[in-house]
Amino acid sequence: MDGSPHSLRRTAFDATTPARGGGIAHHGSGGQWHDRPVAADLTKRPGEVAAMFDRVARRYDLTNTVLSLGRDRRWRRATLAALCIIPGDRVLDLAAGTGASTVALADCGADVVAVDISAGMLIEARGRGAVRDAIVGDGEHLPFADGVFDAVTISFGLRNVADSPAVLRELARVTRPGGRLVVCEFSRPIWGPWRAVYLGYLMRALPVLARVVSSHSEAYTYLAETIRAWPDQRELARIVAEAGWTSVGFRNLSGGIVALHRAVRPA
Ligand SMILES: C[S@@+](CC[C@H](N)C(=O)[O-])C[C@H]1O[C@@H](n2cnc3c(N)ncnc32)[C@H](O)[C@@H]1O
Repeated sequence: MDGSPHSLRRTAFDATTPARGGGIAHHGSGGQWHDRPVAADLTKRPGEVAAMFDRVARRYDLTNTVLSLGRDRRWRRATLAALCIIPGDRVLDLAAGTGASTVALADCGADVVAVDISAGMLIEARGRGAVRDAIVGDGEHLPFADGVFDAVTISFGLRNVADSPAVLRELARVTRPGGRLVVCEFSRPIWGPWRAVYLGYLMRALPVLARVVSSHSEAYTYLAETIRAWPDQRELARIVAEAGWTSVGFRNLSGGIVALHRAVRPA
């Protein structure tokens, strides 16, 4: 079953050998994924992204759980398992938000630093006792020396940054040779009928639900639009490899609604 820590083994990841050298390919094959006009502004200026997350911070966790129909906890457990934490590992949780994943990492014995561009989200994170080290910062310019982390992770954050290849390169810079990367991000359901159901949910039900649970429903229009505009699993694997990571693989969760990409910093 997807999401279970026990089902997540090395072989569960689809090893990929992404082609090098090409630009970011358009991933519009497969019908209905891209054939609607985009309503939200997807330029992702850091100041505006931070302000948007500041506004939703207080109810972020509840809204997340409602809109993911409770699947978010499974996705987080799978992400944690993929990181293969050894107690004492120094771990960077980038775009940590309200710290749900940071707390789980600390509970595994990791020495974890949370970084996020939104001070409002980190205020919520600091409210969780286990988040001791929380820094407001931009993933494109991390305030760390080279090679200081054993593992780095970013959950539902890479899609929100202005320049995701730059963030992946910066993550490689701060990771030691042999260190691990795990990216947890929305992706593209692999089975056509499931993709159609999910797209209907994203474009019709999610905005209605968001109006009920959040006073800032425009943030959830942005959520739906960024998911549709995001590269699919193989394309993201290629982007990760081009950013300087090796042994890139991915695993689908919930039929591809979410994908975990795992990679290693070359020695
Ligand atoms: C959807 S939330 C995910 C939060 C958390 N990782 C989780 O799984 O719930 C995306 C987070 O990315 C952060 N973010 C967006 N752009 C960023 C950047 N350039 N650098 C660091 N954090 C960023 C936002 O402030 C927000 O907290």
